[in-house]
Amino acid sequence: MIELQGIKKIYRMGSQSLEALRGVSLKIGKGEFISIMGPSGSGKSTLMNIIGCLDTPTSGEYVLDGDKVAGLSFDQLAAVRNRKIGFVFQNFNLLPYATAWENVELPLLFDGKSARKRKERVTELLNAVGLYDWRAHRPSELSGGQQQRIALARALANDPPILLADEPTGNLDSKSGEEIMDVLTMLWKEGRTIVMVTHNDHVSARSQRIIRLFDGLII
Ligand SMILES: Nc1ncnc2c1ncn2[C@@H]1O[C@H](COP(=O)(O)OP(=O)(O)O)[C@@H](O)[C@H]1O
Ligand SMILES: [Mg+2]
Repeated sequence: MIELQGIKKIYRMGSQSLEALRGVSLKIGKGEFISIMGPSGSGKSTLMNIIGCLDTPTSGEYVLDGDKVAGLSFDQLAAVRNRKIGFVFQNFNLLPYATAWENVELPLLFDGKSARKRKERVTELLNAVGLYDWRAHRPSELSGGQQQRIALARALANDPPILLADEPTGNLDSKSGEEIMDVLTMLWKEGRTIVMVTHNDHVSARSQRIIRLFDGLII
């Protein structure tokens, strides 16, 4: 599903440059549940952003579900992202002035779904994360765990086969974190490929395989 070969990422800032990934090769099969671990600054988010087509590598090959990502234009990358990948972040990244309903509806609007389809799908997603009754609330009126469940519902709106989660439980108390992990585990059992960054051994223990990064390399 995900095949990285010799991926390097160099960030240039004026005359300075920083090699955040120094040759990462990795295969992730369809339906796998992977954790990425490593100290702060080791390149975890950089790797996730490349896997998620939010950023491109400086060099190396990336084949996603049979497509060579390197050759795609900006618009083509956006289309791949919208169809294939759902994202969840540590700080939820919900739109603060939009309601729970509107946040979940957003990817469906971008995808050009009709009003009837959107209503059906948002209802289904909010019920799946147990927050239909909270649909009119804004993020500030929800707990961290509830916000992350809304973010998960939004990530799933277009039914992507891959879910990327960058420290999804990092800002949550352990009980809310467990609830999020229960949802992720359920989504994995439904057949999705899940790649998750975490610092927490309890959280990574729920995955099938742990990839450890150190200083831009897999160790
Ligand atoms: N946009 C950027 N510009 C310059 N340097 C960056 C950028 N993003 C990350 N870095 C640097 O790249 C290295 C890896 O960062 P990151 O992938 O965020 O690590 P992690 O997620 O493991 O903490 C760090 O040294 C970080 O400072
Ligand atoms: Mg990070």
